[in-house]
Amino acid sequence: MVFSSVAGTFGSAGQGAYAAGNVFLDALVEYRRALGLPGVSLVWGPWARDAGMTRGLSEADRRRMARSGLPPVEAEQGTALFDAALASGEPV
Ligand SMILES: NC(=O)c1ccc[n+]([C@@H]2O[C@H](COP(=O)([O-])OP(=O)(O)OC[C@H]3O[C@@H](n4cnc5c(N)ncnc54)[C@H](OP(=O)(O)O)[C@@H]3O)[C@@H](O)[C@H]2O)c1
Repeated sequence: MVFSSVAGTFGSAGQGAYAAGNVFLDALVEYRRALGLPGVSLVWGPWARDAGMTRGLSEADRRRMARSGLPPVEAEQGTALFDAALASGEPV
């Protein structure tokens, strides 16, 4: 499993290179699956927990993300989404 980002799916202001990198992950997993190899690319939205990439976000960043219509992923929801993604059988 690789951790991708919705920035690659919907685009995200100021994150062009990050979006491209995540689309690469999605395409790599699609390619692997077409070859019969295992793989899942989990396209995360932003996590609510103030850690990792979400550490240091400004209030303006948080308001911009909220305006995009993506509510932050809470830890319990995120772990459930992880299980659901693995069980789905879908590559992305
Ligand atoms: N957090 C979010 O809201 C969110 C949303 C969408 C997608 N994602 C994706 O989920 C993944 C994890 O995000 P996160 O928030 O957990 O990030 P994070 O806390 O910054 O963790 C990134 C991890 O990658 C390691 N790392 C960075 N550069 C590396 C390198 N060159 N070689 C080996 N390891 C390296 C870091 O190791 P060290 O600790 O040793 O530096 C760290 O363990 C990322 O790929 C991110 O794009 C996160």
